[in-house]
Amino acid sequence: MFSEGNLQRYLEAAVGAAREAGKLQKELLWSDFSISHKGEVDLVTEVDRRCEEMVVARLREATPDFGFLAEENQYQDGSTSHRWVIDPVDGTTNYAHGFPWFCVSIALEVEGSPVLGVIYHVMMDELFTAIRGKGAYLNGKKMQVSQHEPLKGCLLATGFPYDRTWDNENNFNHFCAFHMETRGVRRAGAAALDLAYVAAGRLDGFWECKLKPWDVAAGVLLVAEAGGVVTNYAGEAYSIYDHRVVASNGRIHKDMIGVLARSSGG
Ligand code: IPD
Ligand code: CA
Ligand code: CA
Repeated sequence: MFSEGNLQRYLEAAVGAAREAGKLQKELLWSDFSISHKGEVDLVTEVDRRCEEMVVARLREATPDFGFLAEENQYQDGSTSHRWVIDPVDGTTNYAHGFPWFCVSIALEVEGSPVLGVIYHVMMDELFTAIRGKGAYLNGKKMQVSQHEPLKGCLLATGFPYDRTWDNENNFNHFCAFHMETRGVRRAGAAALDLAYVAAGRLDGFWECKLKPWDVAAGVLLVAEAGGVVTNYAGEAYSIYDHRVVASNGRIHKDMIGVLARSSGG
């Protein structure tokens, strides 16, 4: 496939793009940027669009033959087997409200699965990176998932889909069940960061439904490379195109699957 040198070069390009977009996000946060609605609840800001343009332009320069799957635009050119999967701002609702918890998420997908991932947590200046088979790193230091178990002493994270008010699969039942069986559940509003935090051992587990490939592609690679486990709600192998994801430190994974099964139906 790729030589190690090539992957390293692609990683550097993705890191450069993420930092560049992050700089703009920091500069414009709390400024008077325009905001529009994609749906009843779902927002998009001028900053999301500008950042996606920047990231795509920089990555196109570095890898002219690769394709793109990104949140704010459709891209017809480039390879479909080798493509960049980009969420220019994960945590858009937070960003639009001036709640400073958001990140840039970039992954390189080859034949359907991520081979490298970069998540840049802008306001903390924390850079999470991974290359498949080579471990996961936070600001250059190797990361490891937590060793916490059992579930009752664990801190988890989740999120809720934008269609939660009119679709029954809204995650409310699972949220209540996990709240009863753990130390706590956080809903910070940026799924990519939740996954990066599982990889860093700051959270012990994460689950969510209806996420898009750009929300999860970099994060699930980070978790796997930090020694964690990522599956669907049935505990089976996970693809970034799946509807439901569970990521954990591995030790609590079976119990998380059990809670999801017992609380299914919402
Ligand atoms: C959203 C965030 C949020 C999750 C939503 C996502 P966006 O992405 O990751 O945590 O709960 O389902 O759509 O819209 O901020 O890029
Ligand atoms: Ca997102
Ligand atoms: Ca986004």
